Amino acid sequence: MTPRAQTIQAVRSEPSSLDEFAQAVLKGLSAPRKRLPCQYFYDAVGSMLFEEITRLEEYYPTRTETAILHAHAPSIAGPSGRDAVLVEFGSGSSRKTELVLAALAAPRAYVPIDVSVSALSDAWARLELRFPGLDIIPVNASFWEALRLPARVLAHGKLGFFPGSTIGNFDPPDAGRLLMHFARVLGSPSRLIVGVDLEKDPQRLVAAYDDAKGVTARFNLNLLERINRELGGDFDVARFAHRAIYDQEFKRIEMHLVSRARQTAQVLGRSFSFAEGETIHTENSYKYSVEQFRAVARGAGWQPAGLWMDANRDFSVHELVLPQARAADGV
Ligand code: AVJ
Repeated sequence: MTPRAQTIQAVRSEPSSLDEFAQAVLKGLSAPRKRLPCQYFYDAVGSMLFEEITRLEEYYPTRTETAILHAHAPSIAGPSGRDAVLVEFGSGSSRKTELVLAALAAPRAYVPIDVSVSALSDAWARLELRFPGLDIIPVNASFWEALRLPARVLAHGKLGFFPGSTIGNFDPPDAGRLLMHFARVLGSPSRLIVGVDLEKDPQRLVAAYDDAKGVTARFNLNLLERINRELGGDFDVARFAHRAIYDQEFKRIEMHLVSRARQTAQVLGRSFSFAEGETIHTENSYKYSVEQFRAVARGAGWQPAGLWMDANRDFSVHELVLPQARAADGV
């Protein structure tokens, strides 16, 4: 760990993070329809594989969203010019953030929130070189754990940033709850910029999640390898296959790990059996229409405002506004 990493504010209760992973794995593998939560894809290996995914020909979301942010940075940064505090939920590499920071006149501070200490410290080192004088306050926490912003930014206007269509990992009711949680964290008045992947030809969607080079397959299978590494599991990873399907009814990509044979695996002293063809559901990635996403946002108390898309309408970037609460409105 670098010296910088030790100065990152931890909101997480440190020792419980392994427990959390262990509990989630045991619970998910004991369910009648086995599942594992997608947040655990992102250990060091998984984060590297995800970066590789974002550069794949078939995986259009990252490059499309980056192009939208690049083309419209001044309007996206909007009136939050001077003194704005940029708060990013799940900041990862903070690459897209640079486009927004560069378009803000004189941002007061940048608060990246992420579960990965290594991602936070790498981004911190890069951003402090590019934006000297910017107050960078990394917070090591998950979206839900981050309840309160650092004291020294509380008095300033907040601009929330939630790119990458990470919102797509939640089913629509949970996506609404998450947007409500962001509203509480940011306070009013504030604005929130959210990247949302749009519905499109299912064949293109499936190709984006089942690429020819097999990078997404390695990303998905790494979850079993992580269980082997961190929880002493004995999964025979070669006997599982990656599968990505598009569910037209739920408008979501589903990723699964399919057992190629009848087999058992041990994790933390417990035994889990798999029938041939049985799957572990590892991720949902919901796709929206502009109106469907706006309805979710309204339901969470946000006012849809700006909207930016690429010419092909593959991806959308939404501006949501939380107006100044009047004293009479109470809490
Ligand atoms: C980071 C959640 C936006 O759903 O497209 C990429 C994750 N999974 N390929 C997505 C992912 C497989 C990605 N998100």
